[in-house]
Amino acid sequence: MSQVTGKAIDWKLLLRIMQYVKPYNRTFVIAALLTIFLAVITLAQPILMEIGLDKYILAGDYNGLVMIVVLMVTLLAVQTAAQYYQTYLTNALGQSVIRDLRIHVFQHIMSLRLRYFDRTPIGMLITRTVSDLETIADIFSEGLISIAGDLLLVVSIVVYMMIQDWKLSLITLIPLPFLLAATYIFKEAIKSSFQDVRTHVAQLNTFLQEHISGISIIQYFSREAQEMRKFKAVNEKYRDANIRSNWYYSIFFPVVEIFVAASIGLLVWYGCKRILSDQQMTSITADQQGITPGKILAFITLLNLLFRPIRQLADKFNTLQMGMVGADRIFKVLDTDEVAPNTGTIQAGMLRGQIEFKNVWFAYIDDYWVLKNISFTIQPGETLALVGATGAGKSSTINILNRFYEIGKGNVQIDGVDLQQYELHYLRSQIATVIQDVFLFSDTIANNISLNNPSITRAQIVEAARNVGAHEFIERLPGGYDYNVMERGATLSAGQAQLISFVRALVYNPAILVLDEATSSVDTETEILIQNAIDRLMEGRTAIVIAHRLSTIQKADKIIVLDHGEIKEMGSHQELLRIEGGYYRKLYDLQFNSAGIER
Ligand SMILES: Nc1ncnc2c1ncn2[C@@H]1O[C@H](COP(=O)(O)OP(=O)(O)O)[C@@H](O)[C@H]1O
Ligand SMILES: [Mg+2]
Repeated sequence: MSQVTGKAIDWKLLLRIMQYVKPYNRTFVIAALLTIFLAVITLAQPILMEIGLDKYILAGDYNGLVMIVVLMVTLLAVQTAAQYYQTYLTNALGQSVIRDLRIHVFQHIMSLRLRYFDRTPIGMLITRTVSDLETIADIFSEGLISIAGDLLLVVSIVVYMMIQDWKLSLITLIPLPFLLAATYIFKEAIKSSFQDVRTHVAQLNTFLQEHISGISIIQYFSREAQEMRKFKAVNEKYRDANIRSNWYYSIFFPVVEIFVAASIGLLVWYGCKRILSDQQMTSITADQQGITPGKILAFITLLNLLFRPIRQLADKFNTLQMGMVGADRIFKVLDTDEVAPNTGTIQAGMLRGQIEFKNVWFAYIDDYWVLKNISFTIQPGETLALVGATGAGKSSTINILNRFYEIGKGNVQIDGVDLQQYELHYLRSQIATVIQDVFLFSDTIANNISLNNPSITRAQIVEAARNVGAHEFIERLPGGYDYNVMERGATLSAGQAQLISFVRALVYNPAILVLDEATSSVDTETEILIQNAIDRLMEGRTAIVIAHRLSTIQKADKIIVLDHGEIKEMGSHQELLRIEGGYYRKLYDLQFNSAGIER
């Protein structure tokens, strides 16, 4: 998954990232100027050293030496301050850019169609919004600006050395091309090992995420030892990948040291040779073209300054490249245009709730039709019950109504208007859906009911809860409506969570109510409680109910029996019962005549 094929600098990508820098242009410019300033000021140190040694120490000029030392200390202080400020700014810049990007990415993810999430692992999206984004921050803090600064410093040092003494410089810099070659080889090597490390850390994350989510299954079936073995294998691979990548470093750094030593050796050898021969040829004075001890000292310092950034260059290039890869991945998420088109404009008060399906065909994938030629009408205030075996297409029918998925052929109308023509959020606000798997956020009960909608008051919440019959149990919770629900409602029973989801539906006062097996996870006693709530919920509203229990179904105005995406039977309870050998009749016999468990 973490294929590192990108170039270290992909200009098109970089340009796109720079769009996010725009609001921080000032910070960017100041950081860049500071980087140039730092390169210049760093170069000043060895020059001052040379002057100090040649002009003052060797000449015995104490006052001059003091002046140089004061100047050097001052420069050092300025350099430290500038360095601090530059580091601070580039980090702040990176963090600001990714904060904005993160908002952009999350906003985009929230707008994507459910279809996208059917095919995209949650773990992947989390990786995108967290760790991939982190690598983009590094482009600024460790990559781009700092590489530019390093290159500037390297070039200035080489140019300065050449101006000072090109022969000495050329001889001293003989190891440089070799070092650059080694750096390149190293860069390529760690690039692929970085890739390994990232792949394995992703695997480790996925493994942990999945196994912690499914911990109860592991414990029910006592699979701990088995899973432990798998975990050890994944963990081991991650360690090996890390060791491999560190191995390259442990080779590369000593190699750099060898080149540095060779360079300094050449400098001292050739420099001293020249000093000695200059002394013999008295006609040439040291000032004219010769080499002084100060110059050798300066060159040694310059060489160290030269090699230090080169040693880090490979690392920084990789950081940059990782950032580019991260950016590429994030922009891919941002570029997914699986956003439900929201071109409709109609949003007028409350819908009456007349629903009409006309020859609707629907498929999740290509033309594997899940719903085939479905037609029916529900009048305002009526209740439709959908029955049929698992996988018949009941949930798909309501997914279409919410426009979670778009239909293939035919059309769906509410109050005689095509779904597409309604403003999407308005449409969804008119349809409240209660599903079997209740999702609760880690927040208070009250906020889970209102979903933080500020226009819903506490009084409305309590009233809705009373109507549904949830008020009593909520009151008994520590803190009542302010009781903090733990992640995914783990601290509530399934029935309690279901009741809360009913309150949530009621408080939004929708025109259309959809219940998808909403009472499947509660016991019969609670169901009776909920049944009263449902009756109240359905008053004056159009409702679509998917249920297994006939007690719920038989009160519906219209019942549709779905089978493999087709309507097999449609009519009232009494009408359907009359069909000899019909599906509904069989269901009825099964539930009412066998052992009489239901009634
Ligand atoms: N998100 C999805 N992606 C692809 N196929 C799906 C998806 N959801 C449901 N299906 C398929 O559509 C068919 C109908 O499913 P569904 O409407 O959920 O049935 P029901 O609610 O009646 O049990 C099933 O064959 C199911 O496998
Ligand atoms: Mg279903």
